[in-house]
Amino acid sequence: MPLVFTLNGDEIRLDDIPDGMLLVDVLRDHLGLTGTKRGCETGTCGMCSVLVDGVLTRSCRTKAIDVAGRLVTTIEGIHGPDGALSDLQAAFLEHGAVQCGYCTPAMVLAAEALLRRHSDPTREQIRSAINGILCRCTGYMQIVDAIEATAAVRAGRNRRTGQNRTAGRRSDREQER
Ligand code: FES
Ligand code: FES
Repeated sequence: MPLVFTLNGDEIRLDDIPDGMLLVDVLRDHLGLTGTKRGCETGTCGMCSVLVDGVLTRSCRTKAIDVAGRLVTTIEGIHGPDGALSDLQAAFLEHGAVQCGYCTPAMVLAAEALLRRHSDPTREQIRSAINGILCRCTGYMQIVDAIEATAAVRAGRNRRTGQNRTAGRRSDREQER
């Protein structure tokens, strides 16, 4: 069965995709995009997540034919100018939010989807956005920190603005410990 969809901004045409083939298998095995990780393959860990029409979607639970005509974004489609790291990816490194890195593609995509919907998310909203993606390494706080810091930069805030809000966020962070 032919499959046509948009992947990271480019139109992709694949001939003869079996009806039941999963999106994760098309991405990794047919297209060589191994940034999308296989984890549990049962829909539990969230590591295989990609964006489909901007919505975080488990590619191990999505038939490839179901993305026909839709927009798919994988971690390979997230980058800054000239292919450098995006601000979000750089923040993950800066805040120690990457250890083994296995969850990182899904976390970055979840964060990107959140920040496109909410320019100024609370820590609770950030936690909710990454809920369902398993990280065995970081304890999650650094990931929340990285996303929160990126939101602040994108919103053009600086350390002089929103002092009450900043104090509130600090309090939220203390409670997470
Ligand atoms: S590999 Fe898809 S949810 Fe775990
Ligand atoms: S950094 Fe290792 S699973 Fe998250």
